Amino acid sequence: MRYKDNYNPTISDEVLFDEILKEKEHIGYYNLVNQDTSHFKEYAKSVQHKDIVVIGIGGSTLGTYAIYKFLKHSKNLEKKLYFLETTDPIDIESKLNGIDLETALFIVISKSGTTIETLSIFKYIHSLVKIDKNNTVIITENDSKLNHYAKINDIQTFEIPKNVGGRFSVFSAVGLLPLAVVGIDIDALLRGAKRVSDSFFSKGEEYKNILKKARFFVEYKNRFNINVVFSYSARLEGFNKWYIQLWGESLGKVDINTTRQGLTPIGIIGPVDQHSFLQLIIEGKRDKTVTVVKVDDFDKNLKIPTVHLEGLEELEYLHGVEFSTLINMQADATIEAINDLGDIPCDVITLESVSEESISSLMYGYELLTSVCGKFMYIDTYNQPGVESGKIILKKKFEQKK
Ligand code: PA5
Repeated sequence: MRYKDNYNPTISDEVLFDEILKEKEHIGYYNLVNQDTSHFKEYAKSVQHKDIVVIGIGGSTLGTYAIYKFLKHSKNLEKKLYFLETTDPIDIESKLNGIDLETALFIVISKSGTTIETLSIFKYIHSLVKIDKNNTVIITENDSKLNHYAKINDIQTFEIPKNVGGRFSVFSAVGLLPLAVVGIDIDALLRGAKRVSDSFFSKGEEYKNILKKARFFVEYKNRFNINVVFSYSARLEGFNKWYIQLWGESLGKVDINTTRQGLTPIGIIGPVDQHSFLQLIIEGKRDKTVTVVKVDDFDKNLKIPTVHLEGLEELEYLHGVEFSTLINMQADATIEAINDLGDIPCDVITLESVSEESISSLMYGYELLTSVCGKFMYIDTYNQPGVESGKIILKKKFEQKK
């Protein structure tokens, strides 16, 4: 008797870990935690401009936006970061109206160097202000057309390594350069990411948590196809957007068994979305997991004052309570309400503080979780063939118009 098969059954944790180790040799983001950051810091020191305008889209901006949004009010930043991402003309005009273009620094970021949104906006900026080496820096692949443009115009460039994918590039020049320029401590960012990386690769706490979570998500994907990240801080709105891109663009794929895979990411903010999406979680279809993200220490002691308002005595138990206590108690009450139901998978991630280390460990942990889910699903986590067809159609439409 002979036997042969082409089955790809569920992988064991050991095999999966070996696969990730193999992948680490050629997928670049894993090793960004160990890079030398001195060239970013040196460049940052030389920047005198106050308004820093990032032009890019998707993986070229979302991670930077997530970190900046989380930290900007908790740091004494002297420079301001703006993001030009969309082709919405009202958005472009309104953002540009708030910036002094004559004194701004433009950071143009595109790995491929040919992205339509990025280049259209860059061209528009060209029509408004003289672009040269004094007000522009470019972050791209070494052999892209954008790099070529930079070289012939003597504009400084920073490289995005070929093996670092857009949505995994936040800890490369893509995120580190603009963040260093506005005064974020990029070494602290890498420290947070490295802590998670070391714990994962030494099979510590992160390894256990990430593998357990990924295995659960993938094994129960047909029952719980939607993963809701419920972030209890308005400062995490950017993180939610970044997570949606990372999860959606990485995991929505056809696997090697030709099965369509994908987990649907949803990002909501507490307590605002307690007055909205929470109803769907509590009473709706049981097709969702919920991850609550909390911040232990907001480092802001804003209080609800003892103000007696006639007819509104009901809420006097809140007098003297700090808003940070209130928001965390709201998160805990939501978690308890979900857990009491007993049929909604829920986990809680608590960030110690509003700091570089906290946000980077959260983000790096999500990058690892995405890679591990991708391995469990037998997909290519790092490509995005699904977004190409629309681009080709758009190009044809413009060619037909000529
Ligand atoms: O994750 C990705 O690869 C994409 O979301 C890209 O970041 C996005 O399409 C922008 O591409 P580029 O950096 O080449 O302009």
